[in-house]
Amino acid sequence: MEQKIFYIKTFGCQMNERDSEIMAQSLSGYGYVEGMDVNEADLVILNTCSIRAKAEQKVLSLLGYLRKTKLSRPTMKICVAGCVAQQEGARLLARMPHVDLVIGTQNIYNLGPLLESVDKEGSRVVTDLRDDYDIPQFLPKLPQRKSGHSGKDRNLQSPSTFQFSKFVTIMQGCNNYCTYCVVPYTRGREMSRKAKDILEEVKTLVEAGVREVTLLGQNVNSYGRTNAVAGDGEPYSFSDLLKEVSNIDGLARLRFTTSNPKDLTDDLVRSFRDVKNLCPQFHLPVQSGSDRILGRMNRKYTAAEYLEKVKKLHEYIPDIALTTDIIVGFPGESDDDFQQTMNLLEAVRFHGSFSFKYSDRPGTRASLFDDKVDEGVKSERLAVFQKRQDEISLLRNSEYVGLVKSVLIEECSDNGAKGRTDTNHIVHFPDCAGHVAGDIVDVRIVHAGQHSLRGEIDNKH
Ligand code: SAH
Ligand code: SF4
Ligand code: F3S
Repeated sequence: MEQKIFYIKTFGCQMNERDSEIMAQSLSGYGYVEGMDVNEADLVILNTCSIRAKAEQKVLSLLGYLRKTKLSRPTMKICVAGCVAQQEGARLLARMPHVDLVIGTQNIYNLGPLLESVDKEGSRVVTDLRDDYDIPQFLPKLPQRKSGHSGKDRNLQSPSTFQFSKFVTIMQGCNNYCTYCVVPYTRGREMSRKAKDILEEVKTLVEAGVREVTLLGQNVNSYGRTNAVAGDGEPYSFSDLLKEVSNIDGLARLRFTTSNPKDLTDDLVRSFRDVKNLCPQFHLPVQSGSDRILGRMNRKYTAAEYLEKVKKLHEYIPDIALTTDIIVGFPGESDDDFQQTMNLLEAVRFHGSFSFKYSDRPGTRASLFDDKVDEGVKSERLAVFQKRQDEISLLRNSEYVGLVKSVLIEECSDNGAKGRTDTNHIVHFPDCAGHVAGDIVDVRIVHAGQHSLRGEIDNKH
C-alpha cells in the first residue's frame, strides 16, 4: 500500500486531544503516517472546538487558507471533525465545498472506512448522534518505555518524545444544559464508559511507562449515573472508579477533570484524602459569584454552597490547589453581580483560573436572552478579574518557596529541566541530578512566578 501523510490539528479541550490520538492511531491501519507540515499532507484533519465564537472563527479562517492550498494540490483531502463539525454538519460543507468529510463527535471510530467512501463517492457529512451511544474500546498503542533505573532502558528511546502523562476519557456528552453551553448539543447525551474498559486502557498506558493519568468527562461526578458501567449492573460511582484506577500497579499519579460543583459529593471530597495517588489538585468551575447569574446559567448551586464545598475540601486536604473557570459578562450581569464574582475570588483565592467573556453560541438558551452585556464592559471586567487573579496566583505560588515538592520530570536536557508538582504547577530546574524524564523526584522550590515555579532537585530529602 502506498504511504500517505496526514496532518492533524487539534483545537479545544483535552477530550479533543484524546479523540485526535484515536483518529491518528486508526489511520495507521489505512496506510497513513503522521506529518508535521500541513503543506505536505495528503489528508488534513481539523479537530475543532465550538465552545466560544472565537474558537469557531479560528477553524473557519484555517479552512479559508486550506481552500487556497487545495487549489494548488487538488488531491489533498480535508476532514473537519469535533464540535464545529457536529454543530454545523451540512451547513459547513455548503459554506466550504472544498471540505471532503465532516465527521461528528461520535463517528470518529469510523474515520478510515468513511475516508474510503469519500474516495469512491465524493464529499460526505456524517454527524449522527445516538442517545444510547456505546463508546467503543480503543486501546492506545504507545512505544514501550520502561521507567526502571537501568541505564540501558533509559536510552531505548528519546524521553522527550514520550508523554508520561495521558488523558483517558471516562464519559462523553453532558445532560446539564447550562444555558450558555454548546457541549450538550455537540457531544450528545451523557454516556459513561464501562469501568472494565477504562481499567484496561489505564493498565495499557501504565505498562508502556505512563506515570500519570487524567480521567476526562464534562461532569465526572455523574459517572455511572445514566447507564450501567459495572459488569453485573450494580451501582458504581465515580469514587468507586477512582479507587480501582488508583490501585493499578505502577500508576504514580491520578487526576480528573471536570466537575460540576452541584454534583460534588462528600464521598468524592473524601476521595482526595483516601485514594492513594489522587493528586491534591482540583479544577472546580464556578462560572460566577452571583446567585442571580448562577440561576440564569442553570448551574443549580449558589455561591454560598460553592464556598461550603471549598471549606470542606480544605478541611480534608489543607494543601489542595484549587482552580476554576469564570465567565464574565453573562447576559444581565450587572456591576454588582460582577463584584460578587470578585468577592468569591477573594474568598477562595484560587491558585489559577481560566476566565472568558461570555460568547453567544447557536442553539443555547442564553443566546436568546435579550439583556446582552456590551463588549467593552465585558473586556473591562475580564481585565479586572485577570489582573487580580494574576496577583493571587503569584501569592499562592510564593507559599511554595522553601518547601520540597514531589515533581514528575517531563523534560531533561542540557539546557535545563521541567516537571510538574502534584498540585499541577510547572517547575523549572537547572538539571536532573542523575534522574531521567518520567522519574518522580523531590524538588526544593526556590522561586515563584505567576505561572510557574523554579527549584532544585533535593536528592537528600
Ligand atoms: N464541563 C465543564 C466545562 C466545559 S467548557 C464544566 O461544566 O465545568 C469549559 C469552560 O468554557 C466552561 O467552564 C466555561 O467557563 C467556558 N464556556 C463555556 N461556554 C461558554 C460561552 N458560551 N461563553 C464563554 N465561555 C464559555
Ligand atoms: Fe457545558 Fe454545563 Fe455540561 Fe459543563 S456541565 S459541559 S458547562 S452544559
Ligand atoms: Fe470545545 Fe467541544 Fe471540548 S466545544 S471544549 S472541543 S467538548
